[in-house]
Amino acid sequence: MALLEIRDLHLKIRTFDGEAHVLNGINLSVERGQIWALVGETGCGKSLTGLSVAGLLPRPPASYPRGTIMLEGRNVLEASEQQMRALRGRHVGMIFQDPTTNLNPVFRVSTQMIDVALHAGALDPAILGLGEGASRRQRKTAARRLAISMLDKVGIPDAEARIDDYPHQFSGGMRQRVLIAMALIGRPKLLIADEPTTALDVSVQAQILRLIYELVREFDLGVVLITHSLGVVAQLCTHVAVMYAGNIVESGTARAVFKRPAHPYTRALLAALPVAGARRGDLNGLPGAVPDLYHPPSGCRLAPRCPCVQPGCSAAAPARVSLSPDHHVACVLAQPNESVVHDSAR
Ligand SMILES: Nc1ncnc2c1ncn2[C@@H]1O[C@H](COP(=O)(O)OP(=O)(O)OP(=O)(O)O)[C@@H](O)[C@H]1O
Ligand SMILES: [Mg+2]
Repeated sequence: MALLEIRDLHLKIRTFDGEAHVLNGINLSVERGQIWALVGETGCGKSLTGLSVAGLLPRPPASYPRGTIMLEGRNVLEASEQQMRALRGRHVGMIFQDPTTNLNPVFRVSTQMIDVALHAGALDPAILGLGEGASRRQRKTAARRLAISMLDKVGIPDAEARIDDYPHQFSGGMRQRVLIAMALIGRPKLLIADEPTTALDVSVQAQILRLIYELVREFDLGVVLITHSLGVVAQLCTHVAVMYAGNIVESGTARAVFKRPAHPYTRALLAALPVAGARRGDLNGLPGAVPDLYHPPSGCRLAPRCPCVQPGCSAAAPARVSLSPDHHVACVLAQPNESVVHDSAR
């Protein structure tokens, strides 16, 4: 059984301006040991996919007219808030882009981490290394010990002393490490990291990515990494899902997608990558912008911007075609036998 299995997920959000159809039939399957990248332009629905998996979108205004999100065999969309809290503590950990907004500035790191450890320990006392009948004092001592060992694991030097500092006493990279330690304290099997390194400089970014990689190996985690950086994807990820306007337009192993990008949108993203030594003005971006999701275009949502658009593209959404067991694409130009006709995109 996959760790995470998203099937035909549709998400709508009701606002004063009307109803936005922000996810439009997402399919994604994550196994342990896999690091999936979720890439795509801003506003494509990456964060809303991550938040949906963690059951963090309030309903209303969000609603899921169709689809399932199975987390270890349980449908997140049918779980009660109490069941969801248990799933979040033990099965899925989440890291967000900006550590400053996710650590409370007025509490010491120890207070915040011990809280999380006690919550995880209430769901499974074995996490704290205690039996059922442990006293509150014993649980608190064990929670502090666990928090220190997690800080140590994510590379905070002198964790025993630093744990009693306030968040502002840590650098940005250190705060992100603290958040990773907090996300992993309940030993979740799935980690969702939403642009965890965007706010960091490149050398700290590299350290955090290496840390995630090492933790995946140590704990046999499945990871969904939401990122804008195709460089990060190439270095770290085993699989890629490319999102456009609420759809996953191409997905597969990173090797397959980078070697033979089959969707015109994936090709455009790769072509937009800056190359060292290129002449000034040589950047190739896809013209136009992600469509208004209150009034999305009919058929393929990329059609109005697509360099390879065909006469029927606006009539019906393209079916998902398997180019190989490891590579899927939703484009009328894709042929199941691997050949994809998109010369006009060159
Ligand atoms: N609370 C909300 N109410 C209404 N629409 C929303 C809400 N949150 C997000 N959206 C819309 O849903 C779409 C997808 O948003 P999402 O935050 O998932 O994008 P994203 O791919 O993560 O973008 P970015 O790369 O900028 O983080 C956007 O068009 C956004 O305007
Ligand atoms: Mg986002």
